[in-house]
Amino acid sequence: MPVVPLTAHTFQRRLLSWFDAHGRKHLPWQQHKTPYRVWISEIMLQQTQVGTVIPYFQHFIQRFPDVLSLAKAPLDDVLHLWAGLGYYSRARNLHQAAVMIAEQYQGRFPDTKDTLQTLPGIGRSTAGAILALAFEQPGIILDGNVKRVLARLHGLTQPINDKTTEQTLWALAENYTPVIRAADYTQAMMDLGATVCTRSKPACLTCPFLKNCTAYHHHLTACIPQKRPAKKIPTQEATFLILKRGRHVLLCKRPTQGIWGGLYCLPEIAGLADSHTVIQYCQQQFKLLVSEPKALNSFRHTFSHYHLQIHPIMVQTKKAPTKLMESTQQIWYNLSKPLAIGLPKPIQTILEALR
Ligand code: ADE
Repeated sequence: MPVVPLTAHTFQRRLLSWFDAHGRKHLPWQQHKTPYRVWISEIMLQQTQVGTVIPYFQHFIQRFPDVLSLAKAPLDDVLHLWAGLGYYSRARNLHQAAVMIAEQYQGRFPDTKDTLQTLPGIGRSTAGAILALAFEQPGIILDGNVKRVLARLHGLTQPINDKTTEQTLWALAENYTPVIRAADYTQAMMDLGATVCTRSKPACLTCPFLKNCTAYHHHLTACIPQKRPAKKIPTQEATFLILKRGRHVLLCKRPTQGIWGGLYCLPEIAGLADSHTVIQYCQQQFKLLVSEPKALNSFRHTFSHYHLQIHPIMVQTKKAPTKLMESTQQIWYNLSKPLAIGLPKPIQTILEALR
């Protein structure tokens, strides 16, 4: 049987019926909906799965219930609440955008596509999502989920992030987006992608577009979206120093620029440092005499642009440092107490293993 063609109207009607029966309606950001809450959730969801985002979203909203509270907060507090979510530029952009909304828009959230896109961290798709979800305007979204749904439906086998494929997908997304029930439609597209038209093992038999899907009919679901050849990214190495004094570990605040900017971290020596270098480093940086270093298992952490091979190495000291460096903040973190500060994921993992 050939693929049954679809009009935009039929697509919308069937998707919305599917959403009424199967869509997600109890996510935290769908309750007490405000543009601010929608914005925070959309930024968190840009690179992170729903299940991971939920507790972060709840803490964030508790601490910063509205755009003015976020604008007034020190960036440090925002970064610490973000710790563990990764892609920290998202947190810096959120803070900067909140300041802009407070100063330039008197705290009123912008409600046009062009204005939204002037805010740091808000691109074309996120602007579309905010317009639709928060303002019931026919904003157009094209995130990873929506790209997959449309590419499969139309049998687009070319690499999904090619410029021309993107243009085709934006045109399709625009063609299907309705002027009414914009919020439900948008959520429905995301939900269909996340729960039915999944990347692997899609549940095609439950899909409302089974008869219309080119990929399904031509057995192409596994090939669409076509993955681009894995991006080759370099590997860097770093030695992370676990400098222990009893149950305390020394943490240093990182400079604002660069990875994990503004977060507390273990002291870091570039490359794979040997015992001698570590002992010397402790003496020079912290004026501390330390025990023979003990190397722990190395592991890899991947950032968007490079892998970091982390070599944790532990040393003990008896004495508190006599003088703290003035340019960086340092704390002796008590391993026996629950984590009170935000730490990057790999640091959290290292410290948890020491508890
Ligand atoms: N991913 C991006 N936005 C989302 C939303 N509103 N609900 C679920 N997943 C999403």
